[in-house]
Amino acid sequence: MNIYPNLILEALTEIHYPAEKQNIVESGMVEDDIRIDGNKVSFSLISPKQNSPFMKSVVKASIAAIKRHAGDDCEVTILVKNRETQPKPVKSSPIEAAKIVAISSGKGGVGKSTVSSNLAVALAKQGYSVGLLDADIFGPSIPKMFGVEDYRPELAIVGDRNLMQPAEKFGVKLLSIGFFVDPNNAVVWRGMMAGNAIKQLVEEANWGKLDYFLVDLPPGTSDIHLTIVDVLKFTGAIIVSTPQSVAIADVIKGIEMFENPKINVPILGLVENMAYFTPEELPDNKYYIFGREGVKRFAEERGVPLLAQIPVIQSICESSDDGTPEVLKNPLLEEKYLEIIEKI
Ligand SMILES: Nc1ncnc2c1ncn2[C@@H]1O[C@H](COP(=O)(O)OP(=O)(O)OP(=O)(O)O)[C@@H](O)[C@H]1O
Ligand SMILES: [Mg+2]
Repeated sequence: MNIYPNLILEALTEIHYPAEKQNIVESGMVEDDIRIDGNKVSFSLISPKQNSPFMKSVVKASIAAIKRHAGDDCEVTILVKNRETQPKPVKSSPIEAAKIVAISSGKGGVGKSTVSSNLAVALAKQGYSVGLLDADIFGPSIPKMFGVEDYRPELAIVGDRNLMQPAEKFGVKLLSIGFFVDPNNAVVWRGMMAGNAIKQLVEEANWGKLDYFLVDLPPGTSDIHLTIVDVLKFTGAIIVSTPQSVAIADVIKGIEMFENPKINVPILGLVENMAYFTPEELPDNKYYIFGREGVKRFAEERGVPLLAQIPVIQSICESSDDGTPEVLKNPLLEEKYLEIIEKI
């Protein structure tokens, strides 16, 4: 009798793993490695559970079914593999968060950390549980913006693990490399050390269950970016820019990095920071001191969502120095951040 793979599959559709509705072909237990050589047939079955005691009877029944379909003289060899030893098709994330969002920019000093901390606080105020990771190994600024520079993480025992306990301020859980280094000593990290430090802040910390996990990235593109996209499965990235055209050129670099197939993180949208200035005494006037709506125009041209245009706010600098993010004091600014939250 001429034996062919579909004949084997047909025979195997008669077999069910105990208590499963689907037969073993439908449930994906039959590996795509059927080999036929004369009257010899071999293939693998993937056990849905590690060392399942039911697999013996599934194998026996499979051999009997194949012999019924392909003839009694056919010799069947079935290799049983455990599901766990199969490569995972989707990357699992060490952080339990509904949304994991990167805040990035092509250029330094455009307001990533300001946007990250205000967004985190605005989300927490809306009742979400929020974690914020300062991944800017070389210039961590989140501790200062939250007024927690002196925090030194203690170890929390969770199950059988010792985990770092994040700081908590304004309802946001925070970790930063700034908690581990003396701010007066410039940090000189070699690439690998920096990558390992970031990995530990993600994997060996007691973040708990979160609605949002925000990551404030260092400027530009670096090994840190590659490490972090490897460790975390990002929902998407927010790119911050100021309106100048020189800044826009860097936005393109930023977008291209995330769209690179190796990184492959969707762009949630752009935030135009320092978009205009409105003096208190002239609340209806907008002065476009860094150029007019450069980011907005770019977003329209590129078909990328514009999440918000955030004005220059004189007191933002003071706020970041006194450790209270500006959204907590400025309802107009809070509105801008609610706009971002709605769009992401
Ligand atoms: N909308 C704003 N109005 C006024 N000042 C702002 C605004 N956004 C940010 N700043 C100020 O600009 C400076 C740079 O902001 P920030 O540190 O957030 O930028 P960054 O992109 O994180 O910088 P780096 O690349 O160094 O990490 C800070 O002093 C901050 O207070
Ligand atoms: Mg920063």
